[in-house]
Amino acid sequence: MTAAERALEFVKDGQTLGLGTGRAAADFVRALGARMKDGGFRVKGVPTSLATEALARELDIPLLAMSDVESIDVTFDGADEVDPALDVIKGYGAALVREKIVASASRQLVILVGHEKLVARLGQRGKLPVEIVPFGASLCRSRLAALGFPAELRPGPDGEPLVSDNGNWILDCQVERIPNPAQLDAAILGIPGVVGTGLFVEMADTVIVQDGNDIEVRERPR
Ligand code: A5P
Repeated sequence: MTAAERALEFVKDGQTLGLGTGRAAADFVRALGARMKDGGFRVKGVPTSLATEALARELDIPLLAMSDVESIDVTFDGADEVDPALDVIKGYGAALVREKIVASASRQLVILVGHEKLVARLGQRGKLPVEIVPFGASLCRSRLAALGFPAELRPGPDGEPLVSDNGNWILDCQVERIPNPAQLDAAILGIPGVVGTGLFVEMADTVIVQDGNDIEVRERPR
């Protein structure tokens, strides 16, 4: 069994599902599309990126725009780091802002990761993505540096700054282990021009971890 197949067990017929971005989320979207073709479910998806929207359309998954939705039953997404409290860093794929909006509107957030994404403390992989309004880039960089997090603009394939689906830029902050993710999230959000951070604190309800053929399901303690 794969993490995507295990994740399908969280889906009920008729639900509205948030569809995340990245490889793990795309595996889930493909598994969902295949199950829907078999007549397994009739669900609607809310994509977290233009890439996921395009994939879901190819698979004939009916879609709803986030602006037309008040609440979502379950969102399935990947992550870049997961700590023992199930707090998460996301955004290596640049979709962090839409992902956080969709996750926040969801009654349940299910994260799918390989075991290599598990960390003892967030920040261990050294990078925290932050989406910013391009106009504020130099202010954001100097304020982040003053907080102790030097940040580089993420380049796109053409060497120019990568433009997110929201028309913004991504700063990758150099971080070490983050002692208090909620406090850091609040401090970064206080910088004018910052649209969102990749810190997802107390948001994931369930994490499905794949290690070869082994699947482990972790639940946030309530
Ligand atoms: C997209 O912005 C990210 O948050 C992804 O969900 C995250 O980077 C995980 O992607 P992979 O499943 O491709 O590793």
